[in-house]
Amino acid sequence: MLQRIRKLGNSLSRRTMLRGGLAAPAIIGAAVLGDPLPSAAFDDDGITHGDISILRFLAAIEIIETDLWTQYNEFGGIQDNEVPGGSGSPAYQAALAKLDMDMSQYIHDNTEDEITHSSFLNAYLRSKGAEPVDLTPFRNLPGSTAPGSSGKKRLTNLMQLTVDTSWWTRYRSRNKNPDFGDTFAPLIPGLLKGKFTAIPTSTADTSNPDRIQAIANTAALHFGTIEQGGSSLYPQLAQRVSNAEVLRILLSIGPTETMHFQTWSDKAGNIVQVTDPITGLEFPDLGMFTGNEDLQANLIMPEPTEFLSPAFGVCSIIRPTETEQAATRTFASFKDDGLFIGQSDAFFATMNELASRADMARRRG
Ligand SMILES: [Fe+2]
Ligand SMILES: [Fe+2]
Repeated sequence: MLQRIRKLGNSLSRRTMLRGGLAAPAIIGAAVLGDPLPSAAFDDDGITHGDISILRFLAAIEIIETDLWTQYNEFGGIQDNEVPGGSGSPAYQAALAKLDMDMSQYIHDNTEDEITHSSFLNAYLRSKGAEPVDLTPFRNLPGSTAPGSSGKKRLTNLMQLTVDTSWWTRYRSRNKNPDFGDTFAPLIPGLLKGKFTAIPTSTADTSNPDRIQAIANTAALHFGTIEQGGSSLYPQLAQRVSNAEVLRILLSIGPTETMHFQTWSDKAGNIVQVTDPITGLEFPDLGMFTGNEDLQANLIMPEPTEFLSPAFGVCSIIRPTETEQAATRTFASFKDDGLFIGQSDAFFATMNELASRADMARRRG
């Protein structure tokens, strides 16, 4: 207990420093742009400027999710009128199916969900007289030209990913919480030490069984990495929302991200033991972790852990949910994944601005 309290103190002091270090650019930006107070009313319904900033950042994140999931669907999902584009990569789909026969269906459904999240948020913004988010000017990345691709230009890069799989141990820990400053070991350490493709990049990739399996494994773990981000982001930003209807939107979309994460957490436990013949990246047999609660493959539900204060005992929760710099940190984690390698300075400036404004939102008391 004493150790936990000390950790909490350390974490708070670190956060205080972060607050001091990161708040300045947002304040300067607001002063230059003449923004109204984030908690001031935007319209007659009591939606605040902060609410609009939160919705706009979420719309941007959903557009990014839509872009990356569309690429996964073109190669690994089901191409139909709900999720058009691409023609599928049979070798990639077969490698994914080794994790679960329904992977193509799940990829399709996750993709459709993201399409509707982004279009709904922009439609809602428009209905309130707010500016919707358009990232089309940044859709310039070439993407993979392997068979199955639509050949469209992309916002995101799935071919040089550095995938953080620490969510695997974070949700299995019974005494650590990232909101206390705790850190977590990755499931696949090698995925943090290089740049790996999660989609086929050429016919050579698809004709080598070990290579395409390593690519499918990487994708399956990246699915969890993306969706756990959304699982935290919505409850984090919900705490800054003022208007009840906007809160309803966040509380209704957020848990679908968690439904995705839960599915991908389950499928990640089925990754196939293989060594990538090109990169040397190793995926172990997860069966070897049986009996180790931090790594065991079938522990897909969150373990209870300490929340708010150790005095309350443990509780099964989404983690993290601390609101400070939540939007900025989420975008930074996507960037650290390598998702935007090749993107322009203007893209990063736009996203950093959207994140800064969302983080300035304060719940109207
Ligand atoms: Fe989403
Ligand atoms: Fe998502």
